[in-house]
Amino acid sequence: MRINWSCGRQLVSAQDWIQIRRVRGFHASTRQLTNSSLPRHQEANKENRSNTDEWTNITSTIERLTDRKLLSNPAHPLSILTDIIFSKFPEQEYTRANFPNPRVSVYENFESLNITSDHVSRSKTDTYYLNKDHVLRTHTSAHQVESFRDHPTPGFLIAADVYRRDEIDKTHYPAFHQMEGGRWWSPQGTSSVKELVAKINQDTAKIPVSEIKIIDDTLPFHDGNPKQHGQHQEVCIAITNHLKRTLEMVVGDIFENIALGDPSAPKEPLQIRWIDATFPFTSPSWEMEVYWQGDWLELFGCGVTQQRVFDRAGYPERVGWAFGLGLERLAMVLFGIPDIRLFWSEDPRFVEQFTPGVVSAFKPFSKYPGTYRDFAFWLKEGTIPEEFHDNDLMDIVREAAVDLVESVKLIDKFTHPHTKRNSLCYRVLFQSMERTLQNDEINVLQDSIRDSLKTKFGVELR
Ligand code: PHE
Repeated sequence: MRINWSCGRQLVSAQDWIQIRRVRGFHASTRQLTNSSLPRHQEANKENRSNTDEWTNITSTIERLTDRKLLSNPAHPLSILTDIIFSKFPEQEYTRANFPNPRVSVYENFESLNITSDHVSRSKTDTYYLNKDHVLRTHTSAHQVESFRDHPTPGFLIAADVYRRDEIDKTHYPAFHQMEGGRWWSPQGTSSVKELVAKINQDTAKIPVSEIKIIDDTLPFHDGNPKQHGQHQEVCIAITNHLKRTLEMVVGDIFENIALGDPSAPKEPLQIRWIDATFPFTSPSWEMEVYWQGDWLELFGCGVTQQRVFDRAGYPERVGWAFGLGLERLAMVLFGIPDIRLFWSEDPRFVEQFTPGVVSAFKPFSKYPGTYRDFAFWLKEGTIPEEFHDNDLMDIVREAAVDLVESVKLIDKFTHPHTKRNSLCYRVLFQSMERTLQNDEINVLQDSIRDSLKTKFGVELR
């Protein structure tokens, strides 16, 4: 899934984000957190979530999305997909964990995962902060530590809503859904590395082998994607084999048996590939991509869980893996859903189309005409264009127009040759999934966006 994470001052794809992470590197703290530090953080999470401060940037539109709970409707395509993926994992091995509240502590979302305070994903332009200590989770990995700590089974699965400040277009929305999975082994009861490896390999042998074509040019580990210090290389390789075999089985089953989104599409043999990746909480790490109608589609981020995550869960002796998966992109492919906003639609023509347990091709309902409006303005004197972040405008537009905007694009940027003032121009496409918008209605939205631009950013409209 190619989720765009806006990074610093530009919008970048997850791929670029990974590149940036590679360049900047992750110098996670070497301080080992012991079990006794957990309750303090967790209490911090429960208290004071509603206090606001200079970090608060959550808007009321986003606040409302947190109440929608799309996954609680079993007939929603995202729930149908979640249930299908869950069903591929043996229940006695993987606990299905539910985390309905997306408000988590900065510790859970970032620090518990070695994401240090200088990391780009922690900036206010990327993340919705409730206040300096709490965010709307930006990924389901926020629940890894407690999931590795709390469940009686060696594995867990989570599906939940996550939030990132992002651009607006057909495949990006500030709220989306992810699935997280984890699996651990304990050396307890084994007397040697060999026995631990044999135990992991036995579990791997139980996973059905997928028939799909797999391209894997990755090395088990190397300097650019290292094994962890202190972890035996055979253990690392055994965990990796279990992880890769598990995800290949899931994807193989889904794409081979239920790829219905476009029944007229030529049936090509399914191909997937593994590529190296970097995440602060796994090492080595990979992404799995699937070739789908001419494009490589990024599905999973995953890897061997960093030992510090197990330390924080209170089980420093354990070893294991974790993966994360974006659900919307996969659901769009499988159900043939053309616009990510449709997942949030309350139109009965969308909501009533789907049946629990069944992947059915989306039946489009008529598309209503859209209207473009441009917003051109001079930035406050002394402000450079890079200081006005695209996501600042996205939130203003979303506050005013909620789901009546299909896309927002920067179409012009220049510096006046004499006055040296900077000008930006954004083009907004207003369109409803449910009806034709009237000009008067768009004028009202336009005025409100213009007003907010003036009051919040002191721009001079042109
Ligand atoms: N949380 C990561 C993301 O959102 C995905 C991931 C999960 C990677 C678990 C590794 C392990 O991009």
